[in-house]
Amino acid sequence: MAKRAVSIELPEGKLGVLICGLGAVATTFMAGVEAIRRGLAHPIGSLTQMGTIRLGKRTERRIPKIKDFVPLARLEDMVFAAWDPIPDNAFEAARKAGVIERSMLDDLKDFLEPIEPMPAVFEQKFVKRLEGKNVKKGKTKMDLAEQVMEDICQFKRASGAERLVMVWCGSTETFLVEKPVHQSVTAFEKGLKSNSADIAPSMVYAYAALKSGVPYANGAPNLTTDVPALRDLAVRRRAPICGKDFKTGQTLMKTIIAPGLKARLIGLSGWFSTNILGNRDGEVLEDPGSFKTKEESKLSVLEYILQPEVYPELYKDFYHKVRINYYPPRGDNKEGWDNLDIFGWLGYPMQIKIDFLCRDSILAAPIVLDLALFMDLAQRTPEMARRGIQEWLSFYFKSPMHAPDLYPEHDLFIQLMKLKNTLRHLRGEELITHLGLEYYD
Ligand SMILES: NC(=O)c1ccc[n+]([C@@H]2O[C@H](COP(=O)([O-])OP(=O)(O)OC[C@H]3O[C@@H](n4cnc5c(N)ncnc54)[C@H](O)[C@@H]3O)[C@@H](O)[C@H]2O)c1
Repeated sequence: MAKRAVSIELPEGKLGVLICGLGAVATTFMAGVEAIRRGLAHPIGSLTQMGTIRLGKRTERRIPKIKDFVPLARLEDMVFAAWDPIPDNAFEAARKAGVIERSMLDDLKDFLEPIEPMPAVFEQKFVKRLEGKNVKKGKTKMDLAEQVMEDICQFKRASGAERLVMVWCGSTETFLVEKPVHQSVTAFEKGLKSNSADIAPSMVYAYAALKSGVPYANGAPNLTTDVPALRDLAVRRRAPICGKDFKTGQTLMKTIIAPGLKARLIGLSGWFSTNILGNRDGEVLEDPGSFKTKEESKLSVLEYILQPEVYPELYKDFYHKVRINYYPPRGDNKEGWDNLDIFGWLGYPMQIKIDFLCRDSILAAPIVLDLALFMDLAQRTPEMARRGIQEWLSFYFKSPMHAPDLYPEHDLFIQLMKLKNTLRHLRGEELITHLGLEYYD
């Protein structure tokens, strides 16, 4: 029997994408969307643009593109704004980031140059390696949150955007743990007014977004919305949230390979990962506080995928180490080495070596695009918006946000199935179980 489709508002008018942090990822995303709009490139790496979804039985051969299956905003309807403590416009910032080659940037200059960053909510204590001049002033953090809300309204008026989403593409903040000020909306608002030291700048933006009913996606491993106060605010304001930490590069590889090893019951005694990268992100991560935030995000992945408590003979006490080394000559072109010590039948040891010469922001940009479009979809879908956390977007994150009493799902293939089944559910299509016995009746 056919299921009923869920009610989704159509994406009329423009979608405004508000980005915290106009650095390498943000400018690669914006320039890329414009290049695609101008027919200069294909949206490679974007599930919303190139991905397909199978519907019904394999014999039906219904496999539409995702963008034709669910009502997503069109790339032509996207408009952009950003905050950054560094005053460079998007053209300058992209030039300094050095991800996109100069000739393409010059072609896009007329689009990028007018994108000037709004003054940021910035406190150096949270990102020690940065100094910013383009910074908001206010007596309290609540004043700063109000200024961000005003920026949001102002951008909406000026751009004519009907709807907005906010994505954090700012630096990794120093490691924070949940404190009493994060436990309820009331405590958090009191903390904003009394300048609590436990409220990071990213939380000020997130609060301003959620108060304004704007979805918030967290691309860094920062704590931000992963606290009861902001989770509750998201539910109250029907504003979707998701995070944390875009899953690109080495962790993407980990979540591709580890499920395969586990599927074939191959043991693991150690996984050593090291990176060299020379972009500003790498420089910020030289600070031990910011590195700790990143390290926590990168380390948990294997524990959850391999389940040592379920498979003690295979995965008990495997040694996992992650290092990030700032090495300026490489710029955004990171090199990630992995050495895996594995073992098979009768315990015989083997090794796998991975040398991934990747481009960080090239891998991250399509994630920003997909998140902006899917978060907007969730916002227009009351059944999704009222739930706050969008766990179906785990696919994109190193440390997926999840309900407090659940464990996160890290396996990329389960994450993809979850995402696509969510889309099927929204459109009233049967969920795919891959049972398929009926083909042999
Ligand atoms: N590129 C990837 O593959 C990848 C993957 C996962 C996560 N990330 C995360 O995405 C973020 C962006 O990465 P990037 O390579 O673009 O870094 P980047 O250093 O080039 O850009 C970050 C920008 O954020 C700005 N910023 C810092 N604090 C801010 C604040 N309070 N408000 C507004 N702006 C602020 C910085 O000035 C900088 O311009 C980092 O946190 C990084 O860890 C990136």
